[in-house]
Amino acid sequence: MSTEAPYQFRWLDRLVPEHAERYLGLYLRVLERDSTVGFPGPFEPAVGQKIVADLNRDLSEKRCHLLVADTGSSFLFQGTLIQSGSPNNRHMAGVFRAMVDPEVRGHGVMWRTLPAFISKCRELGVELVYLDVRAGSPAEQIWKHMGFKVFGVLPGYSRVDGQLFDGIYMYLSVAEAFEIARKRNLL
Ligand SMILES: CC(C)(COP(=O)(O)OP(=O)(O)OC[C@H]1O[C@@H](n2cnc3c(N)ncnc32)[C@H](O)[C@@H]1OP(=O)(O)O)[C@@H](O)C(=O)NCCC(=O)NCCS
Repeated sequence: MSTEAPYQFRWLDRLVPEHAERYLGLYLRVLERDSTVGFPGPFEPAVGQKIVADLNRDLSEKRCHLLVADTGSSFLFQGTLIQSGSPNNRHMAGVFRAMVDPEVRGHGVMWRTLPAFISKCRELGVELVYLDVRAGSPAEQIWKHMGFKVFGVLPGYSRVDGQLFDGIYMYLSVAEAFEIARKRNLL
């Protein structure tokens, strides 16, 4: 097990080249081990460039918000928060592509993202957060353990190497997240 390097949580409004390298570096380290974040395995450099270009476009248009745990040379966590664009649903946001470096999992990095997510949600007027996850993955158990509640199951949600997996859809109110974070002395 590696020692966890000191890191800072930061919301990035743009991936400059050094951030893009850290973002893709973490994504590829995760894909070496997990097939639960969009790809069945590590992607080609051209795919990585497109991911960065798409993310930069969404960040510049404020359609998504990117939180990272930055050591200064690599990211140990990254995840995006996407607020609903329709006026009736602006109080909701989804968390997508949340991932922690395999070398530092199980050390509370995900827990420690809570204050940053809570304050960003409050800033945006978001009161409810949702996410989806592959049924049977460790992440399903982790989100449940952190307080997320299941509101649906989508049969055949993902197709990986010829296998079909259901998807579990979950939500957590920001008020509940605040209470959970407070009880764990994270605030
Ligand atoms: C999901 C993920 C981000 C969690 O990161 P992490 O750094 O391991 O999370 P933490 O160390 O903060 O652990 C969170 C809690 O979950 C618990 N946990 C860890 N693995 C667990 C498991 N398999 N079952 C139940 N709880 C588990 C931890 O013990 C901890 O709770 P505790 O402090 O009360 O003991 C990480 O596993 C990951 O990157 N997975 C691969 C990518 C992925 O699938 N992302 C989700 C896409 S929806």
